[in-house]
Amino acid sequence: MKKLLLIVAILFLAGTIYFFLSGQKVNAPDFSQDKAKQDSGDKSPPAFDKSQYSLTDPASLWVIVNKQRPVPTDYVPAELTTPDVRRDPSDSAEEQKIKSGVAKSIEAMFAAAQTAGYQLMFASGYRSADLQAVYYNGYVARDGQAAADKYSARPGTSEHQTGLAFDISRIDRKCYLEVCFGETPEGKWLAQNAHEYGFTLRYKQGKENVTGYQYEPWHFRYVGRELAAKLHETGQTMEEFFEL
Ligand code: DAL
Ligand code: ZN
Repeated sequence: MKKLLLIVAILFLAGTIYFFLSGQKVNAPDFSQDKAKQDSGDKSPPAFDKSQYSLTDPASLWVIVNKQRPVPTDYVPAELTTPDVRRDPSDSAEEQKIKSGVAKSIEAMFAAAQTAGYQLMFASGYRSADLQAVYYNGYVARDGQAAADKYSARPGTSEHQTGLAFDISRIDRKCYLEVCFGETPEGKWLAQNAHEYGFTLRYKQGKENVTGYQYEPWHFRYVGRELAAKLHETGQTMEEFFEL
């Protein structure tokens, strides 16, 4: 009888110790899973590195230019080129240019649009601060400063000066630089597909308070495919994504 009690006592003690130890295990960080992941070749993508490129250098792929974040008025991108796509003949030679590294992506996007049945026209691309001043002053004279500030950047604060932004139109100019462009098949195709080529629709609908500008379904900005995909997926502006 005594022997039986002893066995029961030992079993109870062993059970208590096991329970205690297994409880500890649950609370402790489980590195075994990481090891298992390593062994099976973990394919989860690395976290998005938001510090890959400068947000302030005007020559940076991710530079953020807005009313609060100007670029020096004498800044000119190092290399500008004319993309090999249909361009607006009424634009100056300067405006028909874009930063060299961006031309291939524009050409690829326009070719894909053509395959999908849409003919696009490259409108205003690079604009020097002087050219921006001509536009801005003209709009102020026509509509007054408060109205102009809602759709035109003051010289030194336009993304066009970085050579990374450009406007797109239909070849028949229907809804040319107008909000209704967003309702055309071309505008819709661009909103759905531009990110595949590294472009983001910079002035989104409903984000006027964040960007400082009205919805511009025709204005696209090159940021590279990785960031463009993130902005498309989240619906965020650059300011929101980078928490400025
Ligand atoms: N329309 C945009 C805001 C610009 O003037 O740069
Ligand atoms: Zn524009």
